[in-house]
Amino acid sequence: MRIDDLATPALLVDLDVLQQNLERMQAIADRTSVRLRPHVKTHKCAAIAHKQRRLGARGITVSTIAEAQAFARAGFDDITWALPNPLSHLSDILALSRDIELRLLVDDESAIRTLEGAKAGLHVWLKVDCGYHRAGVDPRSPTTLDLIRMLSASDHLIFDGILTHAGHAYWAKDRKEIQSIASQERAVMLQLAETARAQGLSAREISIGSTPTMSVSGDLTGISEIRPGNYVFYDGTQAAIGSCDVEDCALTVLSSVISSHASAEYFVIDAGALALSKDPGPDHIVGHKGYGAIFADYEAHAIDPDLVIERLSQEHAIVRAMRPKAVAPVGARVRILEHHSCLAAAQFDEYCVVRGDEVVDRWHIDRQR
Ligand SMILES: Cc1ncc(COP(=O)(O)O)c(C=O)c1O
Repeated sequence: MRIDDLATPALLVDLDVLQQNLERMQAIADRTSVRLRPHVKTHKCAAIAHKQRRLGARGITVSTIAEAQAFARAGFDDITWALPNPLSHLSDILALSRDIELRLLVDDESAIRTLEGAKAGLHVWLKVDCGYHRAGVDPRSPTTLDLIRMLSASDHLIFDGILTHAGHAYWAKDRKEIQSIASQERAVMLQLAETARAQGLSAREISIGSTPTMSVSGDLTGISEIRPGNYVFYDGTQAAIGSCDVEDCALTVLSSVISSHASAEYFVIDAGALALSKDPGPDHIVGHKGYGAIFADYEAHAIDPDLVIERLSQEHAIVRAMRPKAVAPVGARVRILEHHSCLAAAQFDEYCVVRGDEVVDRWHIDRQR
């Protein structure tokens, strides 16, 4: 089958670009002697996770208990659930922990006590805030050392170490800014490990990693594992902030023109918010420029600067044409570089795996929550 025969909207993954991305991140991990534990919430796909494992990934990271259960069924037996203090799921956690090595995140004393009370030998990481200011303990606060002490001394929890996620790298404007956040991410964690050591405590392992920071970081000395996820596909945001180039983006949304208005200089496509998501993209760099970029020529990695995905409803998108001739007729197809590949992938049930114009495979997306 060819791409032009697909019903739309369809989610296309470029097999060769995907493979390059997988190999490049694994090479970074191998070169720096860290373990790659990829975050699979990006793809939610056993076929891709198996590829990551075959290349050398050890363990995976997930964002929901349903993902953990699905990947456990697919044969993954070492899973970090990277959401802090997931106490409302304790019975599912205990059930899954009997079958696999399930690792949890904590940043709260009472949550630690609750997990300890289960007396189940649960693995836990202490989540640290390295500058994103979302979840995580303050690495400079004395209470952080108290929590490390408590975890190290626990009879019923296995303390894996300290873990952080530099999500603020997404606010960077260029590669240089990402590099400085990558250095900060590592430095904050090494400093905390050192402070703990000076007090006779041990943070056994250090886990870091976002796609931007891991894509540009040179030095990972002292780090045990990295957990990037988005790198498998990258996307328009990653290309804008400097984590990658447009040619590294493996995921696109194929959409058809379903209404066309040459006199009003716009047309309508069948990829709305339920295909592209309403992620605004890197508007801190260029201002708001629509909800994705339309390729003028996919093979040449050329974006059409005159087409703007201006407005989204559930299943429709309005594309504004900045030159009258760019108004596409009903039945024409466009290929879109989405702002956020994780959110786009989570809207579909399958990947259409493509090589050039050929659809070579279909992979299931397990998007249950
Ligand atoms: C805790 C944690 N680890 C790792 C990742 C993966 O980072 P990225 O999406 O930049 O690949 C995320 C993403 O949100 C995360 O929240």
